[in-house]
Amino acid sequence: MAEVPVIQILEKEKFFTQHIVPLPHAVPYPPLTAPSSLRLRTKVMCLTTNNVSYARLGFLFGWWDVHPLPPSTPAQYNDPAKYGRTNCWGFAEVLESTVASVPKGAYLWGYLPLGTLAQDVTVEEGAIPGQIFVTNDYRKGVMAIYNRYFVHPASLKDEIEKKADGLAYDAIVRVMFETSYLLNRYVFASDPKETVYPGMDPKAQWSPAQADITGATVIFLAPGSKAALAFAYELRNARGGTQVKKIVGATSESSRNFVEGTESYDDVILTSESSASVLSKLQVGAKDKVVLVDFGGCAGVGAKWAAEFKRTHNNFLMIGVGSEISESSQEDALKALTAKGSSAIGINANDMRIRAMEKVGEKKYFDNLAAAWDSFKKVGIKGLKITWGDNMEDVKKGWDKLCRGEATPEEGLVYRL
Ligand SMILES: NC(=O)c1ccc[n+]([C@@H]2O[C@H](COP(=O)([O-])OP(=O)(O)OC[C@H]3O[C@@H](n4cnc5c(N)ncnc54)[C@H](OP(=O)(O)O)[C@@H]3O)[C@@H](O)[C@H]2O)c1
Repeated sequence: MAEVPVIQILEKEKFFTQHIVPLPHAVPYPPLTAPSSLRLRTKVMCLTTNNVSYARLGFLFGWWDVHPLPPSTPAQYNDPAKYGRTNCWGFAEVLESTVASVPKGAYLWGYLPLGTLAQDVTVEEGAIPGQIFVTNDYRKGVMAIYNRYFVHPASLKDEIEKKADGLAYDAIVRVMFETSYLLNRYVFASDPKETVYPGMDPKAQWSPAQADITGATVIFLAPGSKAALAFAYELRNARGGTQVKKIVGATSESSRNFVEGTESYDDVILTSESSASVLSKLQVGAKDKVVLVDFGGCAGVGAKWAAEFKRTHNNFLMIGVGSEISESSQEDALKALTAKGSSAIGINANDMRIRAMEKVGEKKYFDNLAAAWDSFKKVGIKGLKITWGDNMEDVKKGWDKLCRGEATPEEGLVYRL
């Protein structure tokens, strides 16, 4: 008998509230006959604070539009103004295919919906072998990073069955690593010719002074996040002769043990410390460069510290990567973003990737990234424990845990559906 698909549906304005909805009328699926089409089913997915960001700021960045409510959605949830589906990174299984280069049984790594319902998409081949783009009309306005998928062979099935750690890293950390790789290799490039602006404003300039972090003290908020740990790794291991002076993790008390245990930071301080004491404690001179990178630390700490650091240090830069977890209204989320924007330069992985590809060419960009990702995966994150869930009920528990603030950074939440 055909599996009854189950999807997560969120209330867009109250996205901590989820509904796990079975869709018995979606099956059996009709034959897939349209050309250039794939039928995809999410097979391996992760949950991190990033997934909650997609729900919190989905109204602004088009994230609710990537995986719309399917036609089989029951009437009680079938109002796209009120309900929507959020997104995750991971692997989808190709259930059916009319694309010669992507056979049935292969897998795609990329941006996926939460649930076991198959989705049919039309695709075209990318310029790089092994990469394809989803081309459906409803995906045309979506940032390019979400439409690009990486093809993996059917043999990946063995690793999925074994619940291999490497596969979990691909689901949980790969996109976080790329974000931080872009920051280190292009935004703060050692070679000034390869420098790119990190944000979404196409007209903004990135000065050589901003791009130069040689000798800087770099302070991380939410230093236990996967993105932060990837950036710390990159700063330590991939800067050649342009080293920073110190890499500092500013953590909440609850994440402290994990952050210290990662051995990724030269110093670990607490976000509860007063901003005034932080720089003197770290022995940062008035003329030294200070870079504060916020990966989604406790609400308000970044802005408070930035105001203080700016007052005492001319050579100060704040980078906004993530935001805190809260079930804020659209109005409040916008307010928080605007407030942050006045002190931080918000980065965007999609825009950074596009500019980096323009600098070095698409093929070289992905070849270099793949090599760097392999090196990072070999070392891994010290203390990160991969926790596998097996079904949508487990996903539900993971989402609740994240929203209640009970997900600890040492737990890598990954699911085989
Ligand atoms: N701009 C971009 O293009 C881009 C790209 C990728 C990721 N991001 C963002 O980067 C951030 C980090 O992503 P990630 O997946 O690496 O994060 P993660 O591993 O889930 O982050 C865990 C850290 O987040 C902090 N945190 C705050 N509230 C939390 C909660 N309710 N539950 C769990 N942790 C909480 C904790 O730090 P403390 O305890 O120290 O506060 C914790 O150590 C996210 O906001 C994501 O959206 C942005």
